Amino acid sequence: MKRLPAGFLPSVALDTGSDVPMYDQLSEWFRRAIIDGRLRPGQRVPSTRSLAKELDISRIPVLSAYEQLFAEGYLETFIGAGTCVARAIPDEVLKPANAAEYASPKHASQSAPRKVAQRVDGLRTPPQTWANNQGAFRVGLPAIDHFPITSWSKFINRHARRPPIEQMVYGDPMGHLPLREAIAEYLGTVRTVRCDASQILITTGSQQGLQICAHALVEPNDPVWMEDPGYPGVRQAFRTVGADIVPVPVDEEGLNVDEGIRRNSHARAVYISPSHQFPLGMTMSAARRLQLLNWAARTGAWIIEDDYDSEYRFGGRPLASLQGMDTDDRVIYVGTFSKVMFPALRVGYIVVPKDLVPAFAAVRDAFDTFSSTLYQAALADFIREGQFARHIRRMRMLYLERRTALLEAIDQYADNRLEVVGTHAGMQLAALLPPGVDDVALSIKVAKKGVSARPLSLCYAEPPKRGGVILGYSGANVHEIREGTRKLVACL
Ligand SMILES: Cc1ncc(COP(=O)(O)O)c(C=O)c1O
Repeated sequence: MKRLPAGFLPSVALDTGSDVPMYDQLSEWFRRAIIDGRLRPGQRVPSTRSLAKELDISRIPVLSAYEQLFAEGYLETFIGAGTCVARAIPDEVLKPANAAEYASPKHASQSAPRKVAQRVDGLRTPPQTWANNQGAFRVGLPAIDHFPITSWSKFINRHARRPPIEQMVYGDPMGHLPLREAIAEYLGTVRTVRCDASQILITTGSQQGLQICAHALVEPNDPVWMEDPGYPGVRQAFRTVGADIVPVPVDEEGLNVDEGIRRNSHARAVYISPSHQFPLGMTMSAARRLQLLNWAARTGAWIIEDDYDSEYRFGGRPLASLQGMDTDDRVIYVGTFSKVMFPALRVGYIVVPKDLVPAFAAVRDAFDTFSSTLYQAALADFIREGQFARHIRRMRMLYLERRTALLEAIDQYADNRLEVVGTHAGMQLAALLPPGVDDVALSIKVAKKGVSARPLSLCYAEPPKRGGVILGYSGANVHEIREGTRKLVACL
């Protein structure tokens, strides 16, 4: 059995007015804590000196209690490890002796769920068995095994070893200034976003970015256009503020603005992913972009531009952002490092119009104050010293190779039963299924074979006529892609 590190000692209750001697109370407390599992075998316990100090009593009763517990076999000592709960206490003895006393409260076993806030219903998602698998074809998963972890660790170590005091105290809700400067420069150069560092708000990813937008801009029951099909996380983000979500269909030119105006001409905000629509992958046409910007300028609506993976374009010039075309400061640009670094980093950003900065900073402050400074500082150097650009260049080549492998595999195995859309950019494509095939059932079936294929229908407001699957290719190697395609087609 492994020796456990010193855990937290549950609080020791001693009755100073009791007739029971102090050492007896203490040894009895330890016995019960060990038997009912609050102290685990191998767990370190405090030294007699520090326990006496903590309890503000003389060391003598502590010494006597420990001696007694040693004699009974509840405690043991190890050279260099101090005093631990004995590791030889059989597990069956460790079942809660006083289960009733420590069991979960009565309501945990009651069958009827207790009432929670009504908005939670709008946030629940169906069980997603396809999300249990990594590799082929997990959506949004970068090539983790190609991430330059050695060099990244050096940046982390640089900032972890001797952090300046500003990195260890409460900071600016807008984020770490050097990172904001690096992002502003990167976005200006690569994405034609017009901004300076004062407008960059660091978030814990796009999802938080969307939620901050919702809280800063939308009142309960305000209509908000959302692409249909679209990214389900957006629905969740806007439901937390009670927005009235208006699904607006997309076609080959992106969001259909005329249809949006027809459905609700006075929406408060619109969510779009114009560079690479999620999940169908088209790019919003220039004409539609101008139409949307004009409509927003006329009505005073906000445009929330989600630019989640546009670093990866295969062929053609990188597209300018919508924010860069906006002359009326109506676009709020949301970005993330989840795809270009790794999702667990939880760093993203919002480019906020200058006059809205105080409002957005206040929302961020109310949410969770600000993001961890260690990752922010390391990331700022990673960008400034060129590693970030190098990594993106390498991944662009790799994802191109993986996308080609997927298209070839579909060509070889699917016998024209899958219609592929959205292949020119990003990290995933969508494959439409033959009419009548239930995509959720298919996804569940292939998940059992270790393949993740996210059902397209769950991205729609209403079940679509034709189902499909979203296939992420960036996180799987060529062999996994071929095998995954073979299994997917076999399940059709
Ligand atoms: C379109 C889109 N927007 C936002 C996100 C959220 O990304 P993050 O990890 O930055 O919260 C995702 C994640 O897959 C996405 O696909």
